[in-house]
Amino acid sequence: MARDRSSDPAGRTEDASGTERLLAELPDLNVLGLLHGSSNYTFLARLEPHPPAGLLAVYKPARGESPLWDFEIGSLYRREVAAYELSKVLGWPRIPPTVVRRQGPHGVGAVQLFIDADRRHFLDEQSARRATWAQVALFDVITNNADRKSGHCLFDPKDVVWVIDHGLTFHVDPKLRTVIWDFSGERLPQELCGDVERALVEIDKGALRKTLEGMLRPAEVRMLKRRLRGVLDPSWRFPEPTSAWSIPWPPV
Ligand SMILES: Nc1ncnc2c1ncn2[C@@H]1O[C@H](COP(=O)(O)OP(=O)(O)O)[C@@H](O)[C@H]1O
Ligand SMILES: [Mg+2]
Repeated sequence: MARDRSSDPAGRTEDASGTERLLAELPDLNVLGLLHGSSNYTFLARLEPHPPAGLLAVYKPARGESPLWDFEIGSLYRREVAAYELSKVLGWPRIPPTVVRRQGPHGVGAVQLFIDADRRHFLDEQSARRATWAQVALFDVITNNADRKSGHCLFDPKDVVWVIDHGLTFHVDPKLRTVIWDFSGERLPQELCGDVERALVEIDKGALRKTLEGMLRPAEVRMLKRRLRGVLDPSWRFPEPTSAWSIPWPPV
């Protein structure tokens, strides 16, 4: 599905690069507090000057990442940006603009546009929006997402779904862990096939290669390409959960 600007209520295509610049370049990043439910030092911040009241963002400094046994410390913020950049080329799912910010009160980190979301999450709308959830589920397979909780699916005031928290992605070992198993056994939706093919070409020959190489290790980029090719295989089906570990805890 090629990105269709007219059908994008969030105006994502036109606004994304301008928002990226603001997130990376507005001179002052003022931390307002820690975000509830974060597993790292994840801050709500206000970027200024940006009339009338600043630009709200989520700031995840490398230094605030909690150590994990399987992911290199200080690499999660780059995975967040890599996931966003990949989503732009695929055209889905909607991830709020996310950039590397070199300067901030706690040093280098990811800065993501804050979405003014209501209290709903995936489990509240699981049986509706099938096409959207299929995109999210496929993205999680492609990025090998080890942490898709229900609360990582946000609904903005225009009822548009945004997905967040992509720090635990792109590992070279299989780590898919998600609440969205609704498509297990199903084929790749035909309308998403061209997007996956385009992403592969962009990684082979386009600008995405350089971007990803700046964010991930070479082996991680190679495995990403392998997973992209994998879902294009006619025999590919959405995976089944393999154990209790396949579902994150807490699920929301
Ligand atoms: N871009 C965003 N817009 C709105 N809320 C966000 C955004 N990013 C994170 N949050 C909120 O902050 C919480 C913690 O963020 P999360 O990405 O899970 O951090 P961590 O990487 O520390 O686990 C989320 O559950 C969500 O409520
Ligand atoms: Mg989290």
